[in-house]
Amino acid sequence: MTISDKDLINAAKDARGNAYSHYSGYAVGAAIIDDQGNLHVGVNIENVAYPLGNCAEASAISAMVLKGGKNIVRMAIAGGKGEIAPCMPCGGCRQRIYEFANEETVIITMNDSHNWQNYSITELLPVGFDKSSLAN
Ligand code: THU
Repeated sequence: MTISDKDLINAAKDARGNAYSHYSGYAVGAAIIDDQGNLHVGVNIENVAYPLGNCAEASAISAMVLKGGKNIVRMAIAGGKGEIAPCMPCGGCRQRIYEFANEETVIITMNDSHNWQNYSITELLPVGFDKSSLAN
């Protein structure tokens, strides 16, 4: 079964309904299709000790790894206070996505014009810290 981008975005939106984000009021859902065609979702999970909060992308990546997914083929991110609004992945999550992405990976999120737009990981994180760096 192939999952359309519309379905992927809807999966991120649906997951967002379960975000645990009442400290910021900013709810985020993320949905991934992995290299085996499986769907994984995640939400942001905040904590009364504020720095302990998890981003939705990190939760979705955890779900993917748990189920044996190796690579992110497509990922959609839906966030905002109230209505869905532009939510680009934070810097830390760009690095987390980078770990499981390749040149074909597509990251879908709403741009400032409120259109859903595709990004590559190198657009989001050019010249990232990668595995080859550890060889030096
Ligand atoms: N957040 C995410 O889940 N993903 C992002 O890429 C940006 C920020 C969450 C973290 C926090 O729970 C809330 O949004 C406000 O920063």
